[in-house]
Amino acid sequence: MYNLKQVLHRCLPILGVLVLAACTNNSASNSSTPGTSDTGASTSPSNTVFSAAKGCLNVGVLLPESDSSSRYEAYDRPLLDREIKAALPGVTLQYANANNNATTQQNQADAALTKGACILVIDPNDSDQAAVIVQKAKASGVPVIAYDRLIQDPDTAYYVSFDNQRVGELQGQYIADQYKAGNYGLKQGANLAMINGSQTDNNALLFRKGALNALQPLVDSGDLNLVFDQYTPNWDNAKAQSLMEGVLTKQSNNVQIAYVANDGMANTVVAALRSQKLNGKVLVTGQDATLTGIQNILTGDQAMTIYKPIAQEAKATARLVAALSKGEDTSSIVNGSTEVKGGAKIPSLLETPIIVDKKNVAQTVIADGFLTQEQICSGLSAGAGGICP
Ligand code: BGC
Repeated sequence: MYNLKQVLHRCLPILGVLVLAACTNNSASNSSTPGTSDTGASTSPSNTVFSAAKGCLNVGVLLPESDSSSRYEAYDRPLLDREIKAALPGVTLQYANANNNATTQQNQADAALTKGACILVIDPNDSDQAAVIVQKAKASGVPVIAYDRLIQDPDTAYYVSFDNQRVGELQGQYIADQYKAGNYGLKQGANLAMINGSQTDNNALLFRKGALNALQPLVDSGDLNLVFDQYTPNWDNAKAQSLMEGVLTKQSNNVQIAYVANDGMANTVVAALRSQKLNGKVLVTGQDATLTGIQNILTGDQAMTIYKPIAQEAKATARLVAALSKGEDTSSIVNGSTEVKGGAKIPSLLETPIIVDKKNVAQTVIADGFLTQEQICSGLSAGAGGICP
């Protein structure tokens, strides 16, 4: 729920009849989970608060890391660069990657503000700690768009991402479906290990929550046996491998399912399985549709991944940046609102994730141009996955 300061901050700049509408909207029910979204009327941040945005042609873009997923340098960075420049001709971008360090990211934000950034696009390394950045930016009238990962601050101007709980549900439902079909030799009492993402990334909480929505009923009924369920600090791929090695040792290799939150960690989990000659036999999940992830799917070492068309995420972000700079209404760009801790709702746009396994690689990532058949098939044997020449 809002405290008085937040209510005043949100409501004072809005005049007349709008006061009632805006206040009612902003202080609406806080019964949903922080970070999940609703499609109700969204709130638009006040132009008075973000006074620096109007006419802004200097945008800071801060991404969280580069080692646990190839997406940031391979997709997010070039796509944000291209889309923001296309939407706002003449703009200068200040780019920095925090390399998995929240303090580094705060310093990078300070540096961007010092160099005149008047809009910030931030994929936070740490969803809670990045609130400091939002408050500093706000003090200079600078709006922060939380990109991909939510920032837990009521003054975050916008949030652009995918439906992350849905990502987890797709992963979990895939496991449930394979179990029900008896694939991977799965039968009652199959052992399931969950290797989740970083606990400081709000997305990782949503992925796990979504996955458990699909899996908990099977755990409760004794169909699946949840033998391990841990977060992986910094989404560290090497750590994920050692977690999997530990599970295999503890269970004497009796593990049938590895729920793994993304492709980077899935690849090292596959390495742990390979050293026990279990790769291809254990059902491994992933996310991001990385080149390695898709190749692991075609060789049979990984079962599935989630494709998130990052181009859409970047494009929507660019549209918001341009609208803020031009002082235009943003209500047609957002499609709902997302609650942060404390109950405030951030206007948000959540895109739809797509499930990928061996059967639809060609129709999804290849058809979309996210990866080419040539890239995917390079290094794979002829006929791999039925799509390589
Ligand atoms: C992103 C994933 C990514 C993970 C690790 C999450 O916040 O949504 O796409 O794999 O971070 O970087």
